[in-house]
Amino acid sequence: MQHDDDLVHQNLMSLQTHVLAEEAKHPGATGDLSWIISAISLAGKTIANKVRRARLDDVLGAHGTENVQGEEQLKMDVIANEIIMRCLGDRASIAVLASEEDEEPRILRRSGDGGKYCVLFDPLDGSSNLDSCVGVGTIFSVTVNDPKEADGEKTVCQPGTRQVAAGYILYGSSTIICLTTGDGVDMFVLDQAIGSFLRVRTKLRIPESGTTYSINEANAETFPEGYQRYLQFAHSSGYTSRYIGSMVSDVHRTLIRGGIFLYPPTAKNPDGKLRLLYEANPMAMLLEQAGGVSYSGDVRTMDVQPERLHQRVPVLLGSPAEVAKVREFI
Ligand code: AHG
Ligand code: MN
Ligand code: MN
Repeated sequence: MQHDDDLVHQNLMSLQTHVLAEEAKHPGATGDLSWIISAISLAGKTIANKVRRARLDDVLGAHGTENVQGEEQLKMDVIANEIIMRCLGDRASIAVLASEEDEEPRILRRSGDGGKYCVLFDPLDGSSNLDSCVGVGTIFSVTVNDPKEADGEKTVCQPGTRQVAAGYILYGSSTIICLTTGDGVDMFVLDQAIGSFLRVRTKLRIPESGTTYSINEANAETFPEGYQRYLQFAHSSGYTSRYIGSMVSDVHRTLIRGGIFLYPPTAKNPDGKLRLLYEANPMAMLLEQAGGVSYSGDVRTMDVQPERLHQRVPVLLGSPAEVAKVREFI
């Protein structure tokens, strides 16, 4: 039987109470960022419900259009995008919304009209795995709007170091949010019975090392030579390979267990496949806040100066000791 005082100190914290408690730590806080995270939480619950009903509601499969990436849009990509737009669109502090599924950023309001933040997101990451019921996710990144920059695309093209919040929602065997607002990483699990994300980990830290590497080895022959030598090292050093093909699932496992996740340049994607602004940067912020590292080529991911909204970069992220080993080879 737990002593009462333990119960009192092991607070039951929902995402809402956590965000308000964090806000209270910043006297000058206006609550705008709290509102945005609250909207992301609502979008996450709504998308989770839709993802888990996708086959029942017959919304698997192609939407019949291509997105700006030249990739076939799935019905669920469009549905998730619309849910996020409906949840975030009325948050008064949002200047710009930018999505993997939309060619151009959406300018909601100028900085003069209270447009303080930009929110960039991948509404449904790994969506090609939905038909096989594999974990998929939503990735989000929040940056401060640049009032001097009227051009929507230029406003969102800020380096990852300018992010004020980042995270993902993973629709896996449970629905979780991993979130950072710059003071460590906190993890929440959706308790469907009460409709709340409950805090289960605070100040999550990635293990310093880990012998699990995550990469699509089908592309190995076209990786730059250093990556191939790293793979030979991993194969002969008793490493384990785990690759789900959903970045959110692969990165979450890496964060919890340690190890590395890589998407190197390939023949098909010479700059790598993953998008800097709404996949690599938010994951890089989370990993660094958890004591990990993230590189894109020779550069720290968050130092890359973006040129275009849908720009792709190579990604190498995970436990510091493991990333250092890969960097020795490349
Ligand atoms: P998205 O579904 O948002 O387009 O992202 C898919 C990405 C990412 O989730 C994953 O890491 C990567 O595609 C897998 O690519 P490969 O199938 O080429 O390995
Ligand atoms: Mn994605
Ligand atoms: Mn996507």
